Amino acid sequence: MDNTPNSDTSAAPAALGLLAGKVAFITGAGRGIGAAAARLFAREGARVLLAARTEAQLKAVTEEVRAAGGTADYVVCDLADAADVRAAVDRAVDLYGRLDVAFNNGATIQQPGPMDDMAEADFDHVYAVNLKGVWLAMVAEVAAIRATAGTGAIVNNSSVGSLRGNPELPAYGAMKRAVNSLTESAAVTYGPEDIRVNAIAPGNTLTEMIRTWEADSPGLQERLTAQTPLRRAADPDEIAQAAAWLLSDRSSFVTGTVLRVDGGARA
Ligand SMILES: NC(=O)c1ccc[n+]([C@@H]2O[C@H](COP(=O)([O-])OP(=O)(O)OC[C@H]3O[C@@H](n4cnc5c(N)ncnc54)[C@H](OP(=O)(O)O)[C@@H]3O)[C@@H](O)[C@H]2O)c1
Repeated sequence: MDNTPNSDTSAAPAALGLLAGKVAFITGAGRGIGAAAARLFAREGARVLLAARTEAQLKAVTEEVRAAGGTADYVVCDLADAADVRAAVDRAVDLYGRLDVAFNNGATIQQPGPMDDMAEADFDHVYAVNLKGVWLAMVAEVAAIRATAGTGAIVNNSSVGSLRGNPELPAYGAMKRAVNSLTESAAVTYGPEDIRVNAIAPGNTLTEMIRTWEADSPGLQERLTAQTPLRRAADPDEIAQAAAWLLSDRSSFVTGTVLRVDGGARA
């Protein structure tokens, strides 16, 4: 099939946002990077559907987007529940009539510590949310994109913690590395249909997740900052910006990549 985009290479200024006209589904959108993505994608012209478990947070971000003139709604969804995930993706199509792009961002952190200290139930939970949840979401999203927009893009939120040994968060790191593999496999499988699939690998980003880790590991911020050439943590919006670009038509020849957004920490 010919999936060459009709690109405008003229020098005229772009009038539309990066995601104008697109419908975007975002998991983990109640706070942190997902909430920043909801605000940004809406500012860039997308109609957004926010998913997570905590309704009060989803409602607050949805109202904020609407107050700023954007189009947003939310659906309560536990990524560990297959029926919930499918229903949440279907909700985007019910609400907006189509699905173009999805940001699989929602994830949980594990209790930090060596792997022999980890409870089996904690391992199973990290697996269910951070890996199986991403697989469930991608399968539902591909089906929805195929049935409506026809072509589209998916971004999975991985982590720099997936790229080498992760002794403090071993199960988290393992699931994120598996997300990189699923991302590449999906890119190869769905590329011929012009459904692009990429991942981002954020470094230290100021959200509740990192604060939870720091509570168990005092001095974490100083250690991570010292290992980061830009010598600071990311604001959640800086991570969302990379996801927005990968979901937009501006990255039309990028698929199967895991993009580090880490201030140079793994350079
Ligand atoms: N912060 C960092 O430094 C950093 C670095 C690398 C990668 N990341 C990745 O970035 C993504 C966002 O993390 P964040 O830092 O923004 O963390 P966060 O502030 O803790 O937000 C996580 C989001 O995921 C949702 N979530 C968690 N468990 C869920 C479940 N079972 N079902 C549905 N939603 C669930 C949470 O909502 P509910 O709890 O209400 O469900 C929340 O909206 C994650 O994939 C994380 O692994 C973060």
